[in-house]
This record gives sequence, structure tokens and C-alpha cells, in this order.
Amino acid sequence: MDTLDTLRAKYLQGVAAAADEAALEDVRLAALGKKGEVSLKMRELGQMSPEQRLTAGPALNALKDELDAALRARKAALADAALDERLKAEWLDVTLPARPRPRGTIHPVSQVMEELTAIFADMGFAVAEGPQIESDWYNFDALNIPPEHPARQEHDTFFMARAADDTRPPHVLRTHTSPVQIRAMTEKGAPIRVIAPGRVYRMDMDQTHAPMFHQVEGLAIDRNLSMANLKWVLEEFCRAFFEVPNVDLRFRASHFPFTEPSAEVDIRCSWAGGQLKIGEGDSWLEILGSGMVHPKVLKAAGVDPDQWQGFAFGMGIDRIAMLKYGIPDLRAFFDSDLRWLRHYGFAALDMPTLHGGLSR
Ligand code: DAH
Repeated sequence: MDTLDTLRAKYLQGVAAAADEAALEDVRLAALGKKGEVSLKMRELGQMSPEQRLTAGPALNALKDELDAALRARKAALADAALDERLKAEWLDVTLPARPRPRGTIHPVSQVMEELTAIFADMGFAVAEGPQIESDWYNFDALNIPPEHPARQEHDTFFMARAADDTRPPHVLRTHTSPVQIRAMTEKGAPIRVIAPGRVYRMDMDQTHAPMFHQVEGLAIDRNLSMANLKWVLEEFCRAFFEVPNVDLRFRASHFPFTEPSAEVDIRCSWAGGQLKIGEGDSWLEILGSGMVHPKVLKAAGVDPDQWQGFAFGMGIDRIAMLKYGIPDLRAFFDSDLRWLRHYGFAALDMPTLHGGLSR
């Protein structure tokens, strides 16, 4: 029986050492194949005496079964390992992060419009709109700028064409957002609190002027509003918009036909080291025009000036966007240069909210 033990040890070791299915098959053939050592031993049983066969037969069968089982187990283990290898080689990481940021960006003007809308909404101002092609009456007359008024020249107006025999005054590309004051009051009456952000047009073009730019109009009409309310609203706005704890505003007496009294408002800033800082320093930057709404303007919009009064203001959106985000040239706003848009644009999902932080 020594030889059987030797065979068992030899082939069990061979099975354990077989590195792949082909090597394992070689071991199987060497042991249990037609001419395998164990098979040949089986054949020798025929020449044995019945007594010899009685012990050798079961021992051989047991060895055959044992090797058979070891071969199957090893085969299954090799197949598992091969599958593991394949899975590792063909592994695909479907959890790769999406692109961190979409390729498109939000234009600084759109971003600033969202920011200021959020701030004024918090103070109870709704958003009002008006057309960009405006009638002469809404753009000028209703705002106390009659035909011969010098302010008309200052506005560098674009006029729309009329048929040669049409003597009515031509429509204009609105030169400011102030006509939306008239439209909002005519529609909603008083009391009212609105802002009107949008495009305006003037024949002007240099580093700080473009023929199309953006303004936001503000209007608040109630029983007894005063310049003090105007000042509070503007200070509150600037603090929130420029995201600095201290803003200093300077009101300078001025003149607009549609307000009385009128004031232009400057914001304190510094240019130390070529870097603009809002809220500190010895320089002043003009950011808006404002005043108490002229009684004639209220009347033109069907609001009784003996019952109602209030304030209005008009601010350049492009300008405050340049100040807040350090953008040097206004003309680049409207060049649609992709490099500029990617540099100064905002991620599409960064909707400004007061609680989430405006410009983060
Ligand atoms: N409409 C003026 C402009 O475009 C700005 C302005 C000044 C608007 C005073 C106002 C205001 O509402 O009260 O220059």
C-alpha cells in the first residue's frame, strides 16, 4: 500500500501546484487518464488473487475518488480565480464624478441682476418690466421731459424709423428704465414698491460707455415716504450688495426732471495699490441718481400727488458689476469673448440668495 500512499501524495501535490486549468488537466491525465498511473493500477486488479483484490480494490477506488474530488475542487477554485482576474481587468469605474462645472457660465450682468433682485425683494420690492422700444411719451413727456427740454439732448437717443408721411413722434430705444415707473404706477396705482432692471440704449461708446447697457430703476410710493427712507434703502442695499460691513454714501444735490429734490449718490472707496476697495478710503464713486418723485410724474401715471409721495432711483448695473467684481473694461461685457466669459462668469447653479451668500 506504500505505493498508493506515494501516488496519493504525488498527485494531491500536483493538483495543489497546478497554476491553471491546462496544468490541472495534465495532472488528471497522468493520474486518471487511460494511461494514467492510477488507471493502470486499476487494471492490475485483474491479475490479483481474490484476497489481494479484496483489500487493493477499495483502497484504489478510494484513492481514485479522492483524487477526483481534489481535481474538481481545484478546477472550481481556478475558475473562480480566473473570473476574479477578468473582473479586475475589465473593471469600469461608473462612479467617476460628473464634470465639476458645466461649460457655460452666467454673465456677470445676469448674476448681479439676480443679486440685486434678491436684496430688494427682501425689502418688499417686486420686479416690474417695460418694453425696450418705448414711446416718446413714456420715455420723456410722462417723466416731465417735454419736447424742448435740454435733457432730451443729453440722452443721445436712438430713434425708430417712421414712414415719411407719419408726423407722430418716433418711438425710441428707451434711454433709461425710468419709463417703467410710469407703466408700473399706471397699472398698479399706489402704494407701490418696485424695481425694474433691464436694458437701455444711448448713442455712446468708450471704455465706460456702451450703446446698450443695463440699469435698475427703483420706485417706492406711499403716504409719507421721505428722503430718509430713500437713504436707508440705498445704504441697506449697498451693504448687502458689496458684502462689506461698512458702506459710506454721500448724497450730492443734483437735478433730474422727474425728481424734486434730486440727489446723486457716491460711495466711499479706495484705490490703494490699484485695487478698488468699497467702504474705505478717501475716494468717491458715483453709483446712482435719485430723488423724491416729481408731482407731475405721479399725475402722468394717474396717482394723486396730494395723497401719495415717494422716492425713485436709477443705478447702472454694469457699473456696479464692474465695481464689485473688479472688471476693468465695460466694452468686454458685450464682446461675447468665451475666454472673458469663462473668467468672469458664474457657475450656473450658484443662484444668489441672501441666506446662501450672494456671490459665493
Ligand atoms: N433715469 C436717470 C438716468 O438714466 C437715472 C435716475 C435718476 C433715475 C434719478 C431715477 C432718479 O429714478 O430718481 O440718468
